[in-house]
Amino acid sequence: MRREHLEILVKKYFEWKGLPLRPALSFDDVQIINNISDINSRSDIKNLQAQLAGNFFLNIPVVSANMDTVTDARMAIALARLGGLGFIHQFLPIEERVRQVMEVKRADNALIENPITIPITATLSEAKKKMAEYKISSILITNKNGTLAGILTSRDYRFKNNDKLPVKKVMTRMPLITARATISRKEAEYLMEKHKIEKLPIIDSSGRLVALMSAKDILKEKEFPNAAKDKRGKLVVGATLRLNADYINEALELINAGADIFLLDTARAGSSRVFEAVKKLKTVFDINLIVGNIDTPEEVEYLAKAGADCVKIGIGPGAACKTQEETGVGLPQLYAIATCVAVAKKLGICAIADGGIRNGACLSKALVAGANAVMIGSLFAGTEEAPGIIFRQGNQLWKHYRGSASLDHQLDRIKSGSLDEVRNPEGESGKIPYAGSVISVISGLLGGLRSSMSYVGARDIGEYWKMGKFVWRTNAGKEEGRPRI
Ligand code: XMP
Repeated sequence: MRREHLEILVKKYFEWKGLPLRPALSFDDVQIINNISDINSRSDIKNLQAQLAGNFFLNIPVVSANMDTVTDARMAIALARLGGLGFIHQFLPIEERVRQVMEVKRADNALIENPITIPITATLSEAKKKMAEYKISSILITNKNGTLAGILTSRDYRFKNNDKLPVKKVMTRMPLITARATISRKEAEYLMEKHKIEKLPIIDSSGRLVALMSAKDILKEKEFPNAAKDKRGKLVVGATLRLNADYINEALELINAGADIFLLDTARAGSSRVFEAVKKLKTVFDINLIVGNIDTPEEVEYLAKAGADCVKIGIGPGAACKTQEETGVGLPQLYAIATCVAVAKKLGICAIADGGIRNGACLSKALVAGANAVMIGSLFAGTEEAPGIIFRQGNQLWKHYRGSASLDHQLDRIKSGSLDEVRNPEGESGKIPYAGSVISVISGLLGGLRSSMSYVGARDIGEYWKMGKFVWRTNAGKEEGRPRI
């Protein structure tokens, strides 16, 4: 598109949304307009499904930031259970990222294909090491020919002091209660209940182990009915690719590990290097690819041409960002979202609003502006599920949160060999109040969103975007809308 066409598109979109094109506004500068509707209560809003790329959907419009103090496997599992998605961060060796992707794909599977096993010749210490590596409390033991020999559970080894013992001396050996692959979920539940067992190995006619059913995972499925899952019923997980790495090989390994969607993440995605990388990745692999970060419609068109399925919008609005302060570059986030979305919608690609989400109001405004979903860092960094320890200072519990371009993070990367020299730090590092479980943070955010949707009269995110319009508010209006007691 010629520049004038982009400008006309953006201008029309802003008029339709009720936004002034200038000055560039952000979340707190606008309010969403209420509509008369037949929605009686926020509980009428059941569908928060969000498209993230072509054929990839989530059940809530929320993803977690690919930052080392926000998303590893634990956060990704927690978010997918709630219907969202976590992007395993890129600041880990590829082997560890692969392991974490696999950990998410193995979680909450009523039927685990290729369960973790250990040969009958192993020692107790080897079995314990493998269980710790995969964070499991029991392990299946197989014979050389792949047939099931037994199972090692904590009940078998909790009082054993000698780790050199062969597992075959400690395990519960065959015959165990087993089943065939044709067993239904209901029959499996019945068997586990009847025999009071936690694990049900699935074997073929020659006794070879083919899968495993776990009572804990069946219960998890029931506990989280809104979980975001792939076609085979496994939790979804996002993987992040690094531009300064062998991203083709890394992508291949992460695809093999089961990653569902990919993010090529760099501070400035509007560059010919990123264009080439996107083109290459989309030529070699049939993957859903998100590319970021950007904040102009020109960049949306550029990356869409390279093959991006979704763009990630936001240069510097995040809580740990110093980019805007250090460089003078980076646009107010609501303006960036609306200008980018005006073009993204026309080109049929998706958009994630990344950074600056402080509450349900910011989430709601980002979606009305046209984002398909938001990416969240600081709001999740204080939660139980985020990586890192909880510490006490004064009367408050805290967790650590740091920008990916902070000095603190860069020094750690130099130590681990993934960075050669310190660049101008464009991120802060600090502490953030401990926030309990991410479940309650998400519940608060979605409570605000559902309520906002009911005011607008929208029953799903598509309607919300179509019906939601803004009005610019003054400082006096902002002050008036703030609680004052
Ligand atoms: P929130 O506001 O949710 O934002 O904490 C998370 C997003 O912040 C971005 N990010 C950075 N931006 N310097 C920046 O300018 C940094 O060091 C940095 N670290 C993270 C990132 O887009 C993330 O998703």
